[in-house]
Amino acid sequence: MNLLRAARLAGRRLRERMPELVKSPEMDLLAEELVLEVLAEAGEFFVLTEERGRVELAEEPEYIAVVDPVDGSYNAVHGIPFYALSIGFADYSEGATLRDVHTAYVVNLHTGDEFEAVAGRGARMNRRRIRCRERGLERSCIVTYFTPQSFGRVEGLLRRVKRVRTFGSAALELCHLAKGDFQAFVDVRGYLRNVDVAASLRVVREAGGAVADTETGLLEIERLDVVACCGGLRGELEELLGVSIG
Ligand code: IPD
Ligand code: CA
Repeated sequence: MNLLRAARLAGRRLRERMPELVKSPEMDLLAEELVLEVLAEAGEFFVLTEERGRVELAEEPEYIAVVDPVDGSYNAVHGIPFYALSIGFADYSEGATLRDVHTAYVVNLHTGDEFEAVAGRGARMNRRRIRCRERGLERSCIVTYFTPQSFGRVEGLLRRVKRVRTFGSAALELCHLAKGDFQAFVDVRGYLRNVDVAASLRVVREAGGAVADTETGLLEIERLDVVACCGGLRGELEELLGVSIG
């Protein structure tokens, strides 16, 4: 089965419907329904989705599809052009974790920019290879999310970097790290979910980036901290944030 072809079809169909869906209070649910329809036609999937959670589309699934139909819902509703469909695929197994996502698809639903990655085969934006762009910490632009309670964990990092940005779609922000626009993504709220980042963490890895160890599973919605960066920043970030980055 061609997983990326199925994901692109879902992306195309959802983009066509978005102008109408953003007007509905049910936007996320309706978007999810549309993606599930495409996946049901494409193959034998167990699906983990943001709204419905576990959806078993097959009795003996071949793949797990981890779906966030609209990552950045607030942006979508407010006309801020930064929101995405994200689908990560892993072979079906009870013990599968984020690391096992081998095929990734993220599309900016406003601009149509497509990010894709297959384990061992690199990352692409609109079919052209992308790579993380190395910069020293003092010249880096990073994305970060924190709460008043977790601010202390990122304070040292914030004192060192040149620029900080926050755009409201973790899936897309991670893809832009992979494209070289940011040098790190750090979310220490313990609030992001596996569905938000399953695909884009694979995109980062395939673009030469590093991702903090995560044993987060794929069969239930789970929350996690996310730290990802260009390979060259790994040591300094491990020290500043007290995490181990694989
Ligand atoms: C949100 C985005 C955003 C993150 C929020 C998430 P949603 O996803 O990933 O980057 O800061 O915590 O809820 O809710 O728009 O799908
Ligand atoms: Ca999301």
